[in-house]
Amino acid sequence: MRLMYLGDVVGRSGRDAVAARLPELRARLKLDFVVVNAENAAAGFGCTAKIAADILAAGADAITLGDHAFDQKEMIAHIDREPRILRPLNIARTPPGAGIRIFSAPRGKRVAVAVALGRVFMKQPYDDPFSALDAALKTAPLGGGVDAVMVEIHAEATSEKMAMGAWLDGRASLVVGAHTHVPTADAQILAKGCAYQSDAGMCGDYDSVIGMSRGEPLRRFITGMPGERFSPAEGEATLCGVFVETDDLTGRAVRVVPVRVGGKLAPSLPD
Ligand SMILES: [Fe+2]
Ligand SMILES: [Fe+2]
Repeated sequence: MRLMYLGDVVGRSGRDAVAARLPELRARLKLDFVVVNAENAAAGFGCTAKIAADILAAGADAITLGDHAFDQKEMIAHIDREPRILRPLNIARTPPGAGIRIFSAPRGKRVAVAVALGRVFMKQPYDDPFSALDAALKTAPLGGGVDAVMVEIHAEATSEKMAMGAWLDGRASLVVGAHTHVPTADAQILAKGCAYQSDAGMCGDYDSVIGMSRGEPLRRFITGMPGERFSPAEGEATLCGVFVETDDLTGRAVRVVPVRVGGKLAPSLPD
């Protein structure tokens, strides 16, 4: 199968880039399944029903949300109405929605998508993502009824994300980090066939501080005092993520290529 994951869509700039480029990318790369993280799509904070519908209409098959999942209160009810949106497995005690789901894909294939939050350097004391994903993936065995397994580890620390790649190698087709909004240069296929990249990067304007206009974050770093609300930078976004090709028989990755299109970052796409 041909899979693509795109990292955190940030604000209007990120949304516009998804709307403008995803339909063409989907066709050109002959993608079977596309996952987009939209946790910062609504002015940097969460995602609304309308924005999620627009991202799905542009060519996403599933949307993931991270620590900002419920910043927009309407998502608390909407996530139970739209099964294509996933929140982290370990975000709360009794959250609405689901953190893993198995989706139908072309040619009768089935794709599992799961997302979990890391704990290292995160603001909230989330439950252990290793045991959460261990239990979740038992319901979606790779090569045993599920043709591809795509896992987002939404976390700050590269150490925790690399450890998760090792933990799920052999059980996932892709383990990709999100949350730091900067793509890492370590795309690889692990020993048992799991494609891995520590962070996908964001779909947002890189002429910024992780997608936000520089003024307020810079002021907070310099003065140590909060001031105005953060607002997303408005320049052209770079779409960032990973492309993965899997073996149809085993679900293991045979190719992984970073995706970077548009905006300020150097472009990267599969041939
Ligand atoms: Fe984010
Ligand atoms: Fe995040």
